[in-house]
Amino acid sequence: MILNKETIKNKLKTKLIGKDFHLFDSVTSTFDASDTLPVSNGTVVCAKEQTCGRGRLGRDWVSQIGGIYFSLILSPQKYAENLQIYTAICAIAVQRAISEYVPCFIKWPNDIVSQNGKKLCGILTKSKFCEGKTPYINVGIGINANNSVSSSALPYASSVKECANREIDENALLCDVLFEIEKCIEFGDAKKITDEFSKVCITVGRMVKILSPDGESIRGKCISIDADGSAIIEKDDKSLMKVNSGEVSVRGIYGEDYV
Ligand code: BTN
Repeated sequence: MILNKETIKNKLKTKLIGKDFHLFDSVTSTFDASDTLPVSNGTVVCAKEQTCGRGRLGRDWVSQIGGIYFSLILSPQKYAENLQIYTAICAIAVQRAISEYVPCFIKWPNDIVSQNGKKLCGILTKSKFCEGKTPYINVGIGINANNSVSSSALPYASSVKECANREIDENALLCDVLFEIEKCIEFGDAKKITDEFSKVCITVGRMVKILSPDGESIRGKCISIDADGSAIIEKDDKSLMKVNSGEVSVRGIYGEDYV
């Protein structure tokens, strides 16, 4: 069922998140659309398709009809010193919500992947600091719900529909994600969030290759996720290294040759 503002309004069980809700048929990116609106804490700017969807590391995010693409504005009082935690919260919330349809996991730093490691959702967070105003973050979430994901163009991607073998109610899935985000912010504490993240994170316990933008690559085993969302990597010489999610890409969970 295609996204519909009235249906979402009726289904939404949150107190704040998504109460200010904007739905567009088509935008370049929900990041652009939210920049043109008077947003506040909890505003959701959603689109049925994006013509210039943006992904991590400067990549495009293919955003055809049938997927769920939204920006969530958060101007947090809680964890103000550790804003990265909101990306983790959103990853946990999406993982919980998609799990109602198909088994799925978090791939560090913040992808949601299916049992066979195919990407079902990506998250990209931008921070906004305007002088004299409370800083806010814009969490961009793209979920491959019912959109067809071409296996030749995107071999490591799939959709919830494809994995569940049935059409997904996009409105219900979006409302569940927003509800889980709100629950997680309200009831979680930093330790609970990190624990749940680590439990469902497919990267923990695996050999990975971390690629930095300047071409440097580090090989090691991811042994845990830290409270600030960084991955702790045990290198081949057994020394430990903390890797921040910002600018790296992770290889290894697909069984590629990463040596
Ligand atoms: C990734 O590369 O994994 C992050 C993808 C983030 C996609 C979402 S869709 C909504 C928001 N608007 C965008 O242009 N990108 C994010």
